[in-house]
Amino acid sequence: MLVDAIECLLCPVCRSDLALHGAVVRCARGHAFDVAKQGYVSLLTGSSVPGTADTPAMVAARAEFLGAGHFATLAGRLRALAAGHETGQEKPTRESGDAIRGRTESGGRVVLDAGAGTGYYLAETLSPDDIGIALDISKHALKRAARAHPRIGAVVADVWRPLPVKDGRADVILDVFAPRNGPEFARVLRPGGTLIVVTPTPRHLAPLVDRLGLLSVDESKSRRVEEALGAHFTEIGHVIEESDMLLDHQAVQTVVGMGPSAWHTDPVALKEEIARLPDPVTVKMSCRVSLFRKIT
Ligand SMILES: C[S@@+](CC[C@H](N)C(=O)[O-])C[C@H]1O[C@@H](n2cnc3c(N)ncnc32)[C@H](O)[C@@H]1O
Ligand SMILES: [Zn+2]
Repeated sequence: MLVDAIECLLCPVCRSDLALHGAVVRCARGHAFDVAKQGYVSLLTGSSVPGTADTPAMVAARAEFLGAGHFATLAGRLRALAAGHETGQEKPTRESGDAIRGRTESGGRVVLDAGAGTGYYLAETLSPDDIGIALDISKHALKRAARAHPRIGAVVADVWRPLPVKDGRADVILDVFAPRNGPEFARVLRPGGTLIVVTPTPRHLAPLVDRLGLLSVDESKSRRVEEALGAHFTEIGHVIEESDMLLDHQAVQTVVGMGPSAWHTDPVALKEEIARLPDPVTVKMSCRVSLFRKIT
């Protein structure tokens, strides 16, 4: 477990500081959380895990698909945006570059990834001096995130609840295809910091969505994202990241298995539908990458 990451976190029970003692994370009042042997710590209180946690099969599919580099252009885009080299459709400004520049003791930044999954995008975004905090509700995902980069601290937490993160501690928050909690993101992001949100556009995974009956994204998605964050954030720019992927049937199976349709699709019917597709088939990757600044 990355000790620098612990310094950014709070006890989920009493909200006091945490420290790492061997394989236990503990607060001054004695609340203790074991670091799992796979390197993540659960700061989830209570016994119930929301049903939205990615399952081991979904996590394995995600790791396989991302590892094959199919979303590498998106990862590259996030790296540039998080480094402050790009600011979306807006012209780069001095202010936006400054906002992303680091301020940890070592000169790096704290990058928090909410719903980090396997930690793929966070690992791609971190510089050697940065601190990465991967939050996710799925311990199966965090087992991988903990190993994705030496500067990542992987923490089981529910994005819908108060985050176990100190006020104003994050320089950058990443949210890639994951739940968004506007008030908590605003609390943990430092003034002038940047929230980067990735959502699929209605073209994402065409033609698989129609051909395989996957869950679709409606045109109002980005408006709804803005509404959900709107009381706390203002969008300062966005880019549409789009590319064509050439996927064989195995990769099609994998991309379906890693997404929300995995919950809803009958595996036998799915296999039959995939068999009717061209092999390989051209599939669109299409996302909106939005940059938000906190309203102060
Ligand atoms: C579609 S995946 C995206 C993962 C990663 N950002 C990526 O793009 O590879 C959504 C992630 O959000 C996590 N998740 C779902 N509900 C959550 C919650 N309430 N709190 C934290 N994470 C959650 C899931 O476990 C899953 O890893
Ligand atoms: Zn405590």
